[in-house]
Amino acid sequence: MTDSNLIKVDKIRRFSTARIIEHWLVIITIGTLVVTGLSQKFYNLDLSQWFILKLGGIDSVRLVHRYTGIVFSIAAIVHIITGIIGVVFKKWQPSMIINKKDFSDAILNIRYYIGMENHPAICDRYNYKQKFEYWGILIGGLLMIASGLILWVPTLVTRFLPGEIIPAARALHTNEALLIFLILAVWHIYNSIFSPEVFPFDTSIFTGYISRERMVHEHPVELARLENKPLEEIVAHRYVDSQEISASK
Ligand code: HEM
Repeated sequence: MTDSNLIKVDKIRRFSTARIIEHWLVIITIGTLVVTGLSQKFYNLDLSQWFILKLGGIDSVRLVHRYTGIVFSIAAIVHIITGIIGVVFKKWQPSMIINKKDFSDAILNIRYYIGMENHPAICDRYNYKQKFEYWGILIGGLLMIASGLILWVPTLVTRFLPGEIIPAARALHTNEALLIFLILAVWHIYNSIFSPEVFPFDTSIFTGYISRERMVHEHPVELARLENKPLEEIVAHRYVDSQEISASK
């Protein structure tokens, strides 16, 4: 797909069909793992007991959790291998790699929010918050996979590793589950629904498209590259009616 194929008047293609399907898979698998996992952790709550009975008892809940865990693990492995092949052999931009600019962007934005700068950070395809969220979920997901597998086959694991690994894996798995739930419920839902930039709902990962206007505000560096225009020309149009002025100054 050439860069001009990505642009449709006022809409820009942001995510491919493969990415849209992958995101659905993540919603379904993580959603199922959170619900079936937390209902085991907080088994004494009325809501958990209602859910466990609806699913046919605790054995069914455990079974659903484990096999959804397998689907989630395969999806994570496919995601990592596809990313490596894409970057190494197909010349994909490694746009999720954290670099020095992400740290300076975070500082610049804090200064902007407290009125010490006249424009927010000028970001590329992913901003520092999106990268933080991505790596948090990916690394957190890999830890959940490793600890989940240890809990699945404890006797096999202790043939090779010390027994302490089992309670350690359990502590990690159960506490990180709560953390994942809170990150998704607070951070991710805020950013994709309630944040003023996207309210009432950021549809880009479901439709694959983002408005050009949002690209100007949120990903001007990528837009300049796609449209083959100078960055100054793109950012000159950001928030003209608010405090912000051209970032080229
Ligand atoms: C986002 C991902 C996941 C979440 C939120 C999650 C959550 C949980 C929670 C809350 C528990 C209950 C712990 C307790 O009783 O204190 C649990 C148990 C368990 N999880 Fe997960 N989990 C996830 C991924 C996985 C994966 C990928 C696997 C397997 C590959 C897995 C396998 C297990 C196993 C074997 C148990 C022990 C319960 C049992 O005996 O069935 N989990 N999980």
